[in-house]
Amino acid sequence: AAMSMTDSAGHGGHAMPTVGPVRQVTDLAGGTLDGPVRRFTITASQARLPLASGATVDAWTFGGTLPGTPIRVRQGDVVEVTLVNHLSTPSVTIHWHGVDVPNAEDGVAGVTQDAVKPGGQFTYRFKANQVGTYWYHSHELANEQVTHGLFGLFVVDPADQANPADVDEALVYHDWSTDRGSRPAFGADDGVRTRAVAPGSRVRLRFVNADSATRTLAVAGGPWRLAALDGTDLHDPGELRDETVAVGGGGRADIALTMPDHPVRVSVDGAPDLGYVLSPDGHATIPAATGGRALDLTRYGTPTGTPFGAASRFDRTYLVDLDQGLGFHGGAFGFVFAMNGQVFPDVPMLTVREGDLVRVTFRNRTLADHPMHLHGHRVLLLSKDGVAVTGSPLWLDTVLVRPGETAEVAFRADNPGIWMDHCHDLGHAAGGMTMHLGYE
Ligand code: C2O
Ligand code: CU
Repeated sequence: AAMSMTDSAGHGGHAMPTVGPVRQVTDLAGGTLDGPVRRFTITASQARLPLASGATVDAWTFGGTLPGTPIRVRQGDVVEVTLVNHLSTPSVTIHWHGVDVPNAEDGVAGVTQDAVKPGGQFTYRFKANQVGTYWYHSHELANEQVTHGLFGLFVVDPADQANPADVDEALVYHDWSTDRGSRPAFGADDGVRTRAVAPGSRVRLRFVNADSATRTLAVAGGPWRLAALDGTDLHDPGELRDETVAVGGGGRADIALTMPDHPVRVSVDGAPDLGYVLSPDGHATIPAATGGRALDLTRYGTPTGTPFGAASRFDRTYLVDLDQGLGFHGGAFGFVFAMNGQVFPDVPMLTVREGDLVRVTFRNRTLADHPMHLHGHRVLLLSKDGVAVTGSPLWLDTVLVRPGETAEVAFRADNPGIWMDHCHDLGHAAGGMTMHLGYE
């Protein structure tokens, strides 16, 4: 069966940097890219910046803002981003999280490029093929650099703007470390923000977990729908009210709703002091949703065709055990996060041949969540704890594997190169839970 994904998402409407004429440009591998060129310059620089509350962050930024310059393009555009490093230290890169770019554009320091030194620059070029909500971040010492602010939103709107949402906003969640301690925020809004939205408006809110810990999303005042995960629309997502959705570090969840005649509020972990409130009059508010039961994603939405599934014949199958314990890593003895009993760079690489259909089973034998992120490929979730996905297909780039859980995923090896496969709790990745996927 042909893969059918409803590639609809909200419209742009954001200020666009330089828009070039249609022309041809060449990517790092010498390939030719055709399409309208959207040109961005992202300058990494140091800045002391305030959040909405006035708490200040000593940040490393991409473009002088918290988070970095949002990049919003249309499907079919050629994205050209010049990264300029004006930091005094450190060296940086840009990785396009969830975007299946050619390997040379993937922005992994030490693997696909050298990190860009202070004073240096580097240009990425790729075609925006996948519609949806993504983000970008530095991939050199990512644990430290993402924490300090080197990340931003990346959204690709559909080529045809047939049915744009009336309100289309990103809620980029990050826990900033400030002069007043740790402050969770949507973007730089570390409080409850209220926005006036007319009843009947169609709303799309793009939640990005730019943090390491798993966060639990809830919407009070619904109903609402979980329209997309990791950028890909879900098929036939049903109406939700009290359900909550856990989003692992690096993951995204798009919320869709039709504005009712009363306030609606998006909250994270039920926090009373952080929220995004949509309000008919711009003032009336609503408390954060508390309680609620976790949405069972394996049964949400309805099935639709996928190019492969649990019953397919796999060319390669891998089991990856996720463990924690004491061991040596980076020349020191301490707490480590292991894959198949080894810590990076000693974890044996997963190898594939181009065209292979690959199944990977992650078994979490720890007490921590592990959002497993494979670069360069979207994976299809086949099952969780042996329970097959019977709802909407779930195409993910960051698979949340909770303590004790087993998650089975499949992907087509269709993007040659050397790719990272790591936990997106970036402290775990730095602590050893990182491996490579390589093409033979
Ligand atoms: Cu979002 Cu390897 O990273
Ligand atoms: Cu982890």
